Amino acid sequence: MTHPAIRQPKLEILSSPEAVADKAAAILSQKIASPDAVIGLATGQTPLPIYARLRAMAQSGLKVDHLRCFTLDEYYGISPAHDASYHRFLKTELFDPIGLPQDQWSVPDGLADPVTETARYEDEIRKAGGIDIQLLGIGRNGHIGFNEPGSDFTSRTRLVALSEDTRLANLPLFPQGDHVPTHALTMGIGTILEARSILMVVTGESKARALAEVMTLPPSPDRPASALKLHPDSIILADRAAAALLS
Ligand code: F6R
Repeated sequence: MTHPAIRQPKLEILSSPEAVADKAAAILSQKIASPDAVIGLATGQTPLPIYARLRAMAQSGLKVDHLRCFTLDEYYGISPAHDASYHRFLKTELFDPIGLPQDQWSVPDGLADPVTETARYEDEIRKAGGIDIQLLGIGRNGHIGFNEPGSDFTSRTRLVALSEDTRLANLPLFPQGDHVPTHALTMGIGTILEARSILMVVTGESKARALAEVMTLPPSPDRPASALKLHPDSIILADRAAAALLS
């Protein structure tokens, strides 16, 4: 059996979250401008300033005619119309404002049968020709997508249980009185690693430990983001606060 080579992701430390967003938006917009781009997107707080920049670029002429987008994950058991759904998040933050028609973007359906839906999602990505660039954030516990610590590096899109830490981190996004779902549908780590390139954005001191562990420790399912060390073309953009524990 052959093992993939271990390599250090390319790390760029930038002065601020704004600088990270500028650089990430420049990388993504360059891909978007290439014909038939297929882009994987993340939700959460970190990419918000990136989406603001992409909205502005679309206003000033960035074309999305042939763009195809896939979203990393969705909460299980909540409707696409729910205030905190990732479907709604990306539709509002990016897809509608840049004029991307509904048949050019996909989010796993949190209300569908999870086994059928996750197989269908993988199939849809395959039929689109695979993902050219996958945007990722990182959880405080090192998760990517909703692949929590312990997720196999060969895992595929599937139903997963959310850790208490992840549920707590996402609580502010839920309307008062609503509980954070216990489960989610997420692209697997194996699915993510099949993207032709990976762009991870990391900002703020709450991510410093997770980032330091990715950069300094060997790849391990205990640290899902360390799977980037098995990818031939990954780049991490971090601000100074997130890079504080790296010498
Ligand atoms: C979002 C996702 C998560 C987030 C991570 C960081 O689609 O899959 O892995 O990227 O939880 O979230 P923020 O950016 O809110 O700190």
